[in-house]
Amino acid sequence: MSGIIPARAVPEFEAAFELQGQLRSLRENGLLREPICLDSAQGARVHIGGREFLNFCSNDYLGLAADPRVAEALCRGAREFGTGSGASALVCGRSRPHLDLERGLSDFVGRERVLLFSSGYLANLAAVSSLMRSGAGLVLEDRLNHASLLDAAVLARARFKRYAHADPVSLQTALISAPQRKLVLTDTVFSMDGDICPLREIAGVCAEAGALFMVDDAHGFGVLGDNGRGALEQAGLNQKEVPLLVGTFGKALGTGGAFIAGPAILIETLIQFARPYIYTTAPSPALAYATSAALQILIEEGWRREKLRDLVAYFRAHARELGIDVQDSHTAIQPLIIGEPEAAVAVSGRLRERGILITAIRPPTVPRGSARLRITLSAAHEKGDIDQLLRALVESLAKRKPDACA
Ligand SMILES: Cc1ncc(COP(=O)(O)O)c(C=O)c1O
Repeated sequence: MSGIIPARAVPEFEAAFELQGQLRSLRENGLLREPICLDSAQGARVHIGGREFLNFCSNDYLGLAADPRVAEALCRGAREFGTGSGASALVCGRSRPHLDLERGLSDFVGRERVLLFSSGYLANLAAVSSLMRSGAGLVLEDRLNHASLLDAAVLARARFKRYAHADPVSLQTALISAPQRKLVLTDTVFSMDGDICPLREIAGVCAEAGALFMVDDAHGFGVLGDNGRGALEQAGLNQKEVPLLVGTFGKALGTGGAFIAGPAILIETLIQFARPYIYTTAPSPALAYATSAALQILIEEGWRREKLRDLVAYFRAHARELGIDVQDSHTAIQPLIIGEPEAAVAVSGRLRERGILITAIRPPTVPRGSARLRITLSAAHEKGDIDQLLRALVESLAKRKPDACA
């Protein structure tokens, strides 16, 4: 009965909202979500309920989420500037650590200005809602964009269309009859598949059609490019070609929050019109301080990116040898498509019995029929951890279906 409230505890409003029925239906379809609780810090190994697990589902790609230097910076930031910002940024919530982080990021990504947000979800909503606030225009989105980009268009009440996944021709077609004001949005690294958007081609289509191009580099920032500047560095694209860049801190940087970087006029527009910036308490100054420390580590310790790349190649080569059906992804996100939600939950459970933590990802997060194990690798892992993962995968998948593994 986990996740479902016993009938005796159901309050009067249940009759009007029919919550029990909705929750029951989720459970019957294998779609009920059950949050887990870690008893330890993030890392290659985590503890849950007194047991240790090898963790292959966090976005802590560089192993910084529990780095003692970042933790120490958080403490120092809290001692000097406090834990809470106390107000929204435009009232009096923006302090020196926010400004330093904005400047540090602006230098790092080579863009005129940077604005901080409490989360990537809010950053995406801020950009789309302020640019499309008049109601005129069209937003075009990759079919497999992250929910926060899709929600941004819906919540902004913008007219929007989806184009075929990673397909510049489909985008070009969708742009033919589009109005003058057009905003194109895409993940750089697709969050549930790990494949990389053909950014140069999409940027070319945008330039030709006069569309404003914005990318969400949540899974590329810190990880891709020779210097970790992200997917745009890897693709050799500048601010002119891709005016708006969204990056998040909760993944490679190991803290929390997000930024938008771009031309001064766009950032000024966000400051004036973005409700998710104006009407919310500014991020914690201590966290901004810690994020600057994490950014410094990211810049200085290129070995983390290299190690991650080696581990990805190692995983893929050995998985293929073992007949495990890996997808065409060369990033830290290595999904194994299982199919039905119940089957994905069952494989995840068998992995858990073997000491491996990988939560099953199910619809509506991914399309129907493509429930999956979203395996993520981190610089905190060692090759021995991956060997253990592969052994557990062979056993857990083989139990499911004889042809899933050689
Ligand atoms: C591509 C992408 N964009 C945005 C977000 C949201 O970022 P945040 O967790 O900071 O809200 C996520 C995931 O969390 C993501 O995967």
